[in-house]
Amino acid sequence: MFATTAPGKVILFGEHAVVYGRPALAAPVTHLRARATVVPTGRPDVGLIAPDLGRTMRLSAAPTDNPLAVAIRAVAAHLGRALSDGYDLTVGSDIPIASGLGSGAAIAVAVIRALALYAGPAGGLSREIVSRLAYEVERLHHGTPSGIDNTVIAYEQPVYFVRREGGNLIEPFAPARPLRLLIGDTGVRSATRDVVGDVRRRWQAEPARFEAIFDACGRVADAGRAALAVGDLATVGRLMDENHIWLARMTVSSAPLDTLVAAAQRAGALGAKLSGAGRGGNMIALVTAETEQAVAMALSAAGAVRVYRSDVG
Ligand code: PMV
Repeated sequence: MFATTAPGKVILFGEHAVVYGRPALAAPVTHLRARATVVPTGRPDVGLIAPDLGRTMRLSAAPTDNPLAVAIRAVAAHLGRALSDGYDLTVGSDIPIASGLGSGAAIAVAVIRALALYAGPAGGLSREIVSRLAYEVERLHHGTPSGIDNTVIAYEQPVYFVRREGGNLIEPFAPARPLRLLIGDTGVRSATRDVVGDVRRRWQAEPARFEAIFDACGRVADAGRAALAVGDLATVGRLMDENHIWLARMTVSSAPLDTLVAAAQRAGALGAKLSGAGRGGNMIALVTAETEQAVAMALSAAGAVRVYRSDVG
């Protein structure tokens, strides 16, 4: 049996603008994980098993755009061997789906790693290759993904990321002081592909305005990185507040997200913003040991269906 896991993620700064080449920062959420298991069976065909979804199917009967089938094909092409029979692939995840926490990319990374252990070189595949293969699966969910989700999840480290022709800039970093984050879930599911597509249409309709918003988000991400490097958490928080305002101008916030962000700010968070594609999903709040409890209670009182704690660094 070959079993692997992969973490969820939050975007600290720069979602959406990252699709347009501006810098962004993301961090893994290590205690929310996706799991994949490969069990050799010696039988023809491959069993695809998702107990959380109550779903089982044979690979030969799966639609060609099934994300597990796409992941299997990507690994098979990379390894130069067929992976179309002889095992069962089981997946599961603690990461809420369609909520900006990277569940799709985490399942892809876990599956790719499990298949690599089963059929690949001793020691598995490098994180660069795992990330690249997971990107192929991400294209299904997103249309035009920046690559930040598969990168932060495959590296399992905070990363500074810039999408670039001919090779993305990927710089893992460690904050000078650990970040204590609360993640507040609106409970509203939102498909990243739809939100990213809508931002693209708005950018096409009003290119100058959206380019200026993306530039502002990029400046915030760079300033955030500098503040993280010196452990200036007050500035990190202020920049999170600012990033949220730019995301709202991009039209990707929503009433529930704005309500949770405002509740966290009022309860004493150093800063708060939506995280991920928006229009639903999750927001993050930067707190301290002193403010954590009050902010968590304020988020629940303001309607968060779940509040998670996640530390960075
Ligand atoms: O998968 P989500 O919802 O966390 O969104 C990823 C971040 C975006 O910038 C909105 C899209 C992308 O490909 O970077």
